[in-house]
Amino acid sequence: MDCYLKVYGCQMNAADAHLVSRLLQDAGIREVEVSAEADAVVLLTCSVRQHAEDRARGFARTMRGEGKKVIVAGCMGQLRGEELIKEGIADFALGPDEYRRIPDILLGSRELSEVEGLETYSDLLPVDTGGVSASQAIIRGCENYCTYCVVPYARGRERSIPYQAFERQVRHLVDTGVKEIFLLGQNVLAYKHDNLRFIDILERVAGIDGVERIGFLTSHPRDLDYETVQRMAAIPELLHFFHLPLQSASDRVLGMMNRGYTVSDYAERVNWVRRAFPDAYLTTDILVGFPGETREDFEITLDAMERFQFDFAYMFAYSERSGTEAARMENQVPVSERQKRLATLIEKQSEITRLRSQRWVGRSEELFVTAPAPRGEGMLTEMKNHRSVILNHTARPGERVRAKLVGVSGWSVLAEPAVKEVV
Ligand code: 5AD
Ligand code: SF4
Repeated sequence: MDCYLKVYGCQMNAADAHLVSRLLQDAGIREVEVSAEADAVVLLTCSVRQHAEDRARGFARTMRGEGKKVIVAGCMGQLRGEELIKEGIADFALGPDEYRRIPDILLGSRELSEVEGLETYSDLLPVDTGGVSASQAIIRGCENYCTYCVVPYARGRERSIPYQAFERQVRHLVDTGVKEIFLLGQNVLAYKHDNLRFIDILERVAGIDGVERIGFLTSHPRDLDYETVQRMAAIPELLHFFHLPLQSASDRVLGMMNRGYTVSDYAERVNWVRRAFPDAYLTTDILVGFPGETREDFEITLDAMERFQFDFAYMFAYSERSGTEAARMENQVPVSERQKRLATLIEKQSEITRLRSQRWVGRSEELFVTAPAPRGEGMLTEMKNHRSVILNHTARPGERVRAKLVGVSGWSVLAEPAVKEVV
């Protein structure tokens, strides 16, 4: 039985794919690199926007057409499972808490494993991907119920991974050569277990031998407090990288989205971060065309992009998700208008991103080497703030190299190694 894994969507899905790989390995099922060689295909799907669902459906249909067994797992498996099976697109559908059943299905077991309602997978040791950077979930699920978002329905209630189990997973990663760990969750700041909060976990992980760099994704701006930022600044291993999804800069729209903060609350948090980390790499998510968003609301967001000067933004046109509160709202913005607003926003932010990238040029930085550069020569590296840089030099992943940032090409910052003095 050879199996091919295909991943859609967010970082959490990418991390879930590693859980599935572990389950496959433990069951003696071989994972193959190309779908043509597989007997079965497991899709880790995303339902956050229609486009992601359409892509997964298309791929599943093709695989079914080629006679492969198709398991649709993850968010779309949870939300649209019955429908997919009825339509003949999937043989099996499983939600994010049911991955343990994948090997049973592939091996044709008559009985499927018992699954808990709220899984943490905290007993599973991460697979060795050969990389120096890895991600590991510290909390699963979401119960914020932003009115546009389907995630709380697909991934269920928040549950934190007990620290002992998490530490075991991190130590295992370090043993396989990992030096940089990203703590993952839909909202890591909601972590709560045994009287420990997220900042306590960060401090503890920083103390684990062999952990050189720590990052985290994603944080809900509402849950970021001043004390946390101050304690973060005292962790030398922490990357100066903050992904704080703003979504909209109109308080009226933020209210309808149920985000729990105003734009001035958000600005205050950005100030804390930038004061504590002057070289912070700050990124965000923006959603345009939410039901009831007026042209004026949109202009407010557009102006705010200028003010906040994000280093990068993930920008989306609102996509109606059945079952969510926003899908039932009146005043849905016409799709063509959503697309127009998105194009305007992207144009504006692209220029800001370009100018923000320029500000690194001329600096001398210690770069952490992660992998060979995807195109051409050199190595992919990152600064202390997680901004990626292409280094024109050969070096081993995991090494640190002092280099001069010499220019920008497209999205990439380019670096040359600092010249060693020859005596
Ligand atoms: N339509 C468009 N974008 C969405 N997001 C979440 N739900 C939707 C939706 N219904 C975006 C948000 C979130 C990111 C992961 O995806 O910006 O932060
Ligand atoms: Fe969705 Fe909001 Fe939860 Fe993020 S915090 S996953 S946007 S409901």
